[in-house]
Formats: sequence, C-alpha cells, structure tokens
Amino acid sequence: MRSKTIEILTNAMKGGYAVGAFNTFNLEMTQGIVRAAHDLNKPCIIQATPSTFRYAGCRVIGKVVRGVIEADSNSNLVGFHLDHGKNLDDIMCAIEEAKMDSVMIDASLMSLRENISMTKRVVDYAHERGVAVQAELGKVPYIGREEQAIDWEELMTNPEEARELVELTGVDALAIGIGNAHGFFQERSEPDWERLARIKELVPNTPLIMHGASDWSREKIQKAIKLGVSCFNIDTDNRVAFVTSICQTVGPKCDVTDPRKILKPARKAVYEKVKEKIEMFNGFEVESKAEPTEQVKYQLSDTEE
Ligand code: G3H
Ligand code: 13P
Ligand code: ZN
Repeated sequence: MRSKTIEILTNAMKGGYAVGAFNTFNLEMTQGIVRAAHDLNKPCIIQATPSTFRYAGCRVIGKVVRGVIEADSNSNLVGFHLDHGKNLDDIMCAIEEAKMDSVMIDASLMSLRENISMTKRVVDYAHERGVAVQAELGKVPYIGREEQAIDWEELMTNPEEARELVELTGVDALAIGIGNAHGFFQERSEPDWERLARIKELVPNTPLIMHGASDWSREKIQKAIKLGVSCFNIDTDNRVAFVTSICQTVGPKCDVTDPRKILKPARKAVYEKVKEKIEMFNGFEVESKAEPTEQVKYQLSDTEE
C-alpha cells in the first residue's frame, strides 16, 4: 500500500524520531503548517476532523488542503489524514471526497471486540483504496468535557489487547493512552512509561501515536520518542496561537476592516508554533533545501520582502 502518511510514520519509526500531526480547519492554518514543514525540510502530517467537515464541507476542506500541499515544491513531505473518524460515513467522506492519505477510526469508546470489528471493517475498505488506517485503544480523554475525576487506570491501553487488535485487524498505526489527555488540562502526573515500553515491545512494527500532545514538555517528548512514539498530535497549541494573534491584532478598538490584516499574522503565529514543534520532534537541522514555488510564495508577514 502506498500511503504518504504511512511512509512518513514508518520512516520516523525506523529513524528514531517523531513527526507532528497538526490539525487544520481553514486556508491560513493549512498554509502556516505546510510552509513550516517546507522551510524546515521536514515531514509532517496535516489532519482534519469530522467537526471540520461539518464546518467547512468535506470536499472543500479536502481541496483547500490538497491545493496548499500541491502548490508546495516540497509537497512530498506532507501527508493528509482524517483525525478521530467515528463511523463509516466519516471514513468514506475522508477517502472519497477529501482524498486523504490515511484515516483514523476512533472506536476507543467501544468494547475491545467492537473496536476490533469496526477497525477491521475500516481497514478492509481503506486498504483496498490504498489508504492507511490508525486505530485507538485505550481512551484519551477531553478533560474539559469530562464531568468526573479521571480514573487513569481505567483509560490506559492494555498492551496485550493492543497486540491482539493489531494482529486481528492489520491496522497501520495505533493511538495509545498512557496518561495523555486532549487540551491544556490536567494529565496524569507522570505518563505510564513502563506501559509504553511494553506496548512497543508487543507491537514493534506499528507506529504509535500520542494524542493530546500540545502541552507536552521537550523532556517528556524526548522520553516518549525513545520509548517508541512516532507521532504527536497537536491541535490546541495551534488554535491558541491563531486566536491569540487575532485578539492582539484586533485590539480593543476593533477597527480593522481588511480581514487579511488579521489573518496574516495569525497564519504566521501557526507557522512559528509548528516550526517549534517540528524541531522538538525531529532534530536540529533546520535548513531549507527548496525554494517555495511561485504559487506558494505568499508573504507570511508584512515585513517579508
Ligand atoms: O482531538 C481532536 C481535536 O482536538 C478535536 O477537534 O474540535 O475539530 O473535533 P474538533
Ligand atoms: P491537543 O489539542 O491536546 O493538542 O490534542 C490534539 C489531538 O490529539 C488531535 O487528535
Ligand atoms: Zn486526538
């Protein structure tokens, strides 16, 4: 199967580094992410959720993201992925309409048996179309949405079950829970590192994905990479960068009439944040090897020539 995403993840797994999977919902966010990967000459994954399909339209966001990737002379660096697909409709939209390279089927709230059966159906459908699949086992909570205190033991990935799910479904990548949570909320005081090592031992050939990584420190990231994580999902950090920039530009008077004057610095803020993350996940050589093509030569900021 030739899926750009799985190629990126497999290279990261073999190379002992990680990549970022960055969420997008519009043109500016997409350009900020793709340009950062371009300028660092490093791979990354760009992803959208079913909520973004509902916000922008599945086919439309697909065309926006594909358009930005294809306009980039380094376009082979970027994979396009469905994040947190929940059902077959999401999967079909992602593959048929948005033309994504890979999909996630998040059946983590189901029982192990149901998760395996749903994941297998998606794998059969997606692989036939050359598209890779990520499953989730264990639960990565959205703490802002949870009402009760979190029982981490209850949520974490069981390594033996992870092996079973991977073997029975043939899934290409696995999202795991070791104390990680979505958003800037309280996570487990220390990730369960032994659990991570055991998962890696039992599924050595499957890239492991860490959701909820926005607030992870450099130290935690490095330890997770050493123990076998190949990809960190980042959404909240970029949303905050985007919105903070908009608030700063707009200011209390709110007298801006050209939206581009607001969106341009917001795009730049995402670009800077993504560069910081890519450097954290994937080393220190930050030299651009390719000039932007004509189409991709939008100015990131007003001070640029
Ligand atoms: O983990 C996924 C996202 O952070 C939630 O994204 O608001 O687009 O569903 P969404
Ligand atoms: P954060 O919002 O915590 O960065 O998590 C993103 C994520 O897991 C997307 O799937
Ligand atoms: Zn997630």
